[in-house]
Amino acid sequence: MIKNLKNKIKKIVDVRVRLLRDQQHQNQQIIFNHSQLKQLFSEDCFIPFSGWAISPSTILHVLNDITINERKCIIEFGSGASTFYIAKLLKVLKSDAIFYSVESDEKWANELKRQLKIHGVSDYVRVIYAPLKKVPDNYSLEEQEIWYDTQILEETFNGQEKFDLILVDGPFGGSTPYARYSAIPFLRKLTLDQASVFLDDIHRTDEAFILKEWEQLLGRKAKTEERYGFFKNNSSFEVKPFQLSKPAL
Ligand SMILES: C[S@@+](CC[C@H](N)C(=O)[O-])C[C@H]1O[C@@H](n2cnc3c(N)ncnc32)[C@H](O)[C@@H]1O
Repeated sequence: MIKNLKNKIKKIVDVRVRLLRDQQHQNQQIIFNHSQLKQLFSEDCFIPFSGWAISPSTILHVLNDITINERKCIIEFGSGASTFYIAKLLKVLKSDAIFYSVESDEKWANELKRQLKIHGVSDYVRVIYAPLKKVPDNYSLEEQEIWYDTQILEETFNGQEKFDLILVDGPFGGSTPYARYSAIPFLRKLTLDQASVFLDDIHRTDEAFILKEWEQLLGRKAKTEERYGFFKNNSSFEVKPFQLSKPAL
């Protein structure tokens, strides 16, 4: 009886210790990723990082890809902290890459433009304000109703070279079911075969499902991390952020 009880307590303690170890490891990884991101901006600079911002590991992965695989034509959906980091990286690299940031909220887009100017990086990104409108049937998934105004996007990208990096972190998840699905069907003809594609927030049911749908559309298998999924081309260099090792128990 006492032996049984001891075994039960040991099991509970083991599970708890494992959970704490994993949580601590995750926190250390976030701190490490943030320290990497801090390299881009000087001491007297502040980039707002709210609960709406992209996860540090996703943006670090994207920045590694831009640098190591010399991405030339980049697009993100959903502007914010990610926009600052990408624009600043392009400046630091003296890159001539084109970078579009598509935003559905006009006030947010204008505020962002103002801050991009303050930080001296507004020449490295084209912020496109495209409000959410009824999504054409050929770009929608199940009950999805809206997406960025495709007419504005079509006009903007007319004659544009093909994208080699796509980052999808918008529209915000609550706007409609499967809110982020349309990026890949819409951009399919405008995307290079070897493009890398990132989708943030795949811990949510909608985004996890979207990633599966994109696998069919792109004919490629996605890889997943805790918070994001991505498609990479086998011919490109490895760009996954450095992972701290977990302490042994
Ligand atoms: C997931 S957020 C995009 C985050 C962005 N990629 C970043 O790294 O900060 C999706 C949308 O939420 C809106 N948004 C972003 N930050 C917000 C905030 N702090 N409060 C309210 N809405 C916000 C913007 O319209 C944005 O396009």
